[in-house]
Amino acid sequence: MDKSALQGLLRPKSVAVVGASATPGKIGFTVMDNLKKCGYAGKIYPINPTAPEILGFKAYASVLDVEDPIDAAVITVPAKLVPSVTEECGKKGIKGLIIITSGFSEVGNRALEDEIVATAKKYGTRILGPNIVGTMSNSDKLNASFAPFLPLPGKSALISQSGALLIAIDAATYTRRVGFDKMISIGNMSDVDIADMITFLNEDPETSCISLYIEGFKDGRRTIEVARKAKKPIVALKSGVSAHGAAAAASHTGSLAGAAKIYKSAFSQAGIIQAEDLDNLFDRTLALSQQPPLKGENILILTNGGGVGVLGTDAAEKYGIPLKFAPEDVQEELKKHMPDFGSAKNPVDLTGMAGNDWYFETVNFSHGHKWVDGLVVLYCETAMTDPMGIAKAIKDGVDKSGKADKPVTVSFVGGERSEKAMHWLVENGIPAYAAPDKALNAMAALREY
Ligand code: ACO
Repeated sequence: MDKSALQGLLRPKSVAVVGASATPGKIGFTVMDNLKKCGYAGKIYPINPTAPEILGFKAYASVLDVEDPIDAAVITVPAKLVPSVTEECGKKGIKGLIIITSGFSEVGNRALEDEIVATAKKYGTRILGPNIVGTMSNSDKLNASFAPFLPLPGKSALISQSGALLIAIDAATYTRRVGFDKMISIGNMSDVDIADMITFLNEDPETSCISLYIEGFKDGRRTIEVARKAKKPIVALKSGVSAHGAAAAASHTGSLAGAAKIYKSAFSQAGIIQAEDLDNLFDRTLALSQQPPLKGENILILTNGGGVGVLGTDAAEKYGIPLKFAPEDVQEELKKHMPDFGSAKNPVDLTGMAGNDWYFETVNFSHGHKWVDGLVVLYCETAMTDPMGIAKAIKDGVDKSGKADKPVTVSFVGGERSEKAMHWLVENGIPAYAAPDKALNAMAALREY
């Protein structure tokens, strides 16, 4: 992999928009507008045959008319013009092309796609796409796409084979409170594929977790090898696993989708963690981007409610997490922070009387104890407690234990106050979910990793 070409493609210092337009509603206008309004700090060069300027930027008839070097070009001209534009970009020495244009292999026009790939290869230019929404990077304030805004900032990178889904996930980052640093639409993968992306993101300092929405691999074996070597967690949602789904994927991105079992075993060989659905992709991405992997088998559940404790226990079994009782000395210490009718077994039931102090003491003690490898903290909103106070007690307890290498996941069940408290936890690096099942599933992802 040519690292500098991919760096130029995904984190460019200058961008040309070939097919930039001054007409609102055209994709060439939206990309220009996005680059400007999202605050991209690099140089922007609109390329248009007739316009003297677009959105206040001096325009050029060709990239060859621009004197300065250009890292990346976003292509928004119709398909038939892409070959000549690719040739000009190659001559200009542009490192990467972000080809938004549709009308290539996804509709059977393989020859046109092969032609642009061959031209790009001649010049060492890398191609993202075609048939994509574009690419985004919060770190660079780069919105080189027609998605309306940059995602909520976070530490993950999403690679999506579906453009529309990428736009939808972009919007959902704000309601789900799961942030991303990068969102990359990969489309037909005519050149740059998922394996290249994993290789690049594995070295990218702003990325701590790689999330994939996949319909099919182009080079499965290479992707598995690259994933196996990756130092960062990779979580994948694979669609097109049913017979009809596979046919739909073939006409969407031209991918060869395969049987669920084959992907499942390939993922497990590669150390790729699977997500069951979109919701689960968000949940697992959040945990994997914020918490260290689980390094042992001893998971302790703390709760103030018997019901959520039982739900958590059921979920632990469902996700293959073995729940053992803590050793006597651990139970004895925990008993100091609960009434007689509490339980120091696992789940540890602090009872509905648990307030901030009990949460702080038990979280702090258990997270710091050598027997505990991972902690799941559950909370039911009660009339006697303030969810924000409990959230702060949990965070404090974790921080003061000094064990940054042990994972914690949290679930608050309640209303608006619980939701706000969970947002606060997430903003402060602790993944929090609205159901015990989700907190256990998140811990299971850290265990699988
Ligand atoms: N160099 C630079 N600009 C040029 C050139 C050239 N050689 N030739 C023409 N242009 C200009 C045009 O003059 C026009 O600018 P203008 O508005 O000032 O006239 C601009 O390039 C765009 O060309 P149009 O012919 O107006 O093309 P249009 O904007 O209608 O469509 C597009 C181009 C968007 C690339 C279209 O062909 C396409 O592929 N659309 C689909 C995109 C898509 O959905 N991608 C997949 C996303 S994934 C998903 O599922 C959401």
